[in-house]
Amino acid sequence: MTKNEVKKKIDELRKALHYHNYRYYVLDDPIISDSEYDNLLTELKELENKFPEFYDENSPTVKVGGKPLNKFEKVEHKIPMFSLDDGFSESDIKEFDLKVKRFLGVPQSEAIDYSVEPKFDGLSIDLIYEDGKLKVASTRGDGFVGEDVTQNVRTIKNVPLILSKDNPPNYIDVQGEVLLTKDEFNRINDERIKSGSQPFANPRNAAAGSIRQLDPKETAKRNLIMIMYYIRQIDGFSMKISTQYEALEVLRKMGFPTSKYNKLAHGINETIEYKKELEKIRDSLPYELDGVVIKINRFDFQEKLGFTTKSPRWAIAFKFPAEQATTKILDIQVNVGRTGILTPVAILRPVNIGGALVSRASLYTMDEIEKKNIMIGDVVFVQRAGDVIPEVVKPVKDLRDGTQRHFKMPDRCPVCGSKVVKDGAYYRCSNINCPSVLKESIKHFVSRKAMNIDGFGNKIVEQLVDKWIVSDVSDIYKLDKETLMDLDRVGEQLAENLLTAIEKSKGTTFAKFIYALGIRHVGEYVAKLLAERFDSLENLKKATREDLLSIDGIGEEISDSVVSFFSESRNIETIDKLLSYGIHFENGKKEQSKVSGKSFVFTGTLAKPREHFKELVEKKGGIVRNSVSKNLDYLVVGENPGSKLSKAKKFGVKIINEEELLKLLEE
Ligand code: IVH
Repeated sequence: MTKNEVKKKIDELRKALHYHNYRYYVLDDPIISDSEYDNLLTELKELENKFPEFYDENSPTVKVGGKPLNKFEKVEHKIPMFSLDDGFSESDIKEFDLKVKRFLGVPQSEAIDYSVEPKFDGLSIDLIYEDGKLKVASTRGDGFVGEDVTQNVRTIKNVPLILSKDNPPNYIDVQGEVLLTKDEFNRINDERIKSGSQPFANPRNAAAGSIRQLDPKETAKRNLIMIMYYIRQIDGFSMKISTQYEALEVLRKMGFPTSKYNKLAHGINETIEYKKELEKIRDSLPYELDGVVIKINRFDFQEKLGFTTKSPRWAIAFKFPAEQATTKILDIQVNVGRTGILTPVAILRPVNIGGALVSRASLYTMDEIEKKNIMIGDVVFVQRAGDVIPEVVKPVKDLRDGTQRHFKMPDRCPVCGSKVVKDGAYYRCSNINCPSVLKESIKHFVSRKAMNIDGFGNKIVEQLVDKWIVSDVSDIYKLDKETLMDLDRVGEQLAENLLTAIEKSKGTTFAKFIYALGIRHVGEYVAKLLAERFDSLENLKKATREDLLSIDGIGEEISDSVVSFFSESRNIETIDKLLSYGIHFENGKKEQSKVSGKSFVFTGTLAKPREHFKELVEKKGGIVRNSVSKNLDYLVVGENPGSKLSKAKKFGVKIINEEELLKLLEE
């Protein structure tokens, strides 16, 4: 191929991929399969690697993330980014309607049109496109100056890098919200907990933390999404847009993701009704909403009303009541985790929040306690969102009566009495042999996704450590029937079952073994990456920081942690002992079967944990996804299925039950 032909091919591929992204992410109506899409993307990546002179910052290949930054540059907003006034009751909203009409000189008896939109609980981001190309993405900051997060926003899969209209505006400045779905939030927190990092308090914090990563590859792994809702400025565009609802339509046609729950309401009563409807389905939506935004539809009306110093007069946020309650902090205790980090936990007078009884809430770090000014004995607001860990929001200071006292991190580890040392924002037990650290490491080692030793429950772990039977994970493989039967509530049958499970766990995969070692920041996903790159333990032990950094998806924190783990002789000794007891890695090759390459999503309760079925499917070469799309092959339905079922029906996805799945797997 001549250079010209290469350039032409690259342009064609980019154009096609931008179009397929639009079909998939905006219209929710893809016209090619995932594998056809992957083939196009691979072809483009190969050409771009061979011909770096044709690099383009807006190529669809940038979605995996570019080079890390040292810091975020500041961006001054040409137009300030305003916030919204809040309303909490129907009367607040009716009063807003009255005021607006008075201001506009519209008779009170007349109904005006409102664009009613979900209020997304994420992070506000501003995007600027010139000649149809994404130029700058920035955070709101203080409303006047934000931070340049362009590199990170480029990795968000549903953000268009190139606008899809043939004649895009010369300039458009549009605002939207960056979000994490509840599923992604839970996945990220699971990984963080497993790898010894603090979980995020809620999806909004997690989204904010994800967009503020200096390494765009880290952001890319978080699977953020963005939803656009407001054109701040548009120049050089052929169409006249005269209402907010039209603006939303235009945004969608240009290739921006917008919400399918936007509605044009005639009169304030219709807006209130719509808010109630959305509130009812709020929990079944994939991401969190904290209310609706009610905007006057006509732009000429909006212009007349204008802005106050902080918010538009033409819009109001009608907030949903948060799932909050007040209760008392009876005590603050300290948990010691697998990495020896001390986490303060509020012990609460049990309280019902949105149907769940809450008696503990994580306070995360000492800094959080100080920032929120929380004392033992305080009456506090506690909040729970969806399936998320309950959070102490703030104390009711007016109710303090002098009996409250400040919490102090203990100087000594509550489990082993060793000195506690400060490590950045965290406090850590200085004893690397702390029984609590050991107990948590063993619980992790035997867990399903790690060595998968069936029946090895917490009670057994506690006793084995307290009785000094197990002093590192390799001792598990020295256990015999008599020792096990000496433990409380372990009879002959259970002891035999445990020994069989221990024996069975010796044949594992390299990835699971790496994960089981409990290296800080190495969750299930990173363990898989490591296993793929270094196909033996010998190679992994020798890996340098640079070797690790060259792996797509591994940053500095992980690299340092892996190198430091393998530089400790006691870790090497444990590994050597484990191998000498017969741990071996089975070939990870997938078996060929009917489910090879087919995708599966689970909903509802199945007879065994989902993880069990996930493993079976993956072992046979199938893929397990979190959400339903048109391309999904099978939805596996258990008892009390969720909203995934109706979505799958809509898309005509094949729906099967557990029994049918097992049959498929056998074929
Ligand atoms: S319009 C000039 N629409 O809520 C007004 N904001 O509490 C621009 N938000 O800063 C905002 N969903 O981050 C608008 N459908 C929506 C929204 C929305 C969420 C956020 C936005 C704003 C905050 C104000």
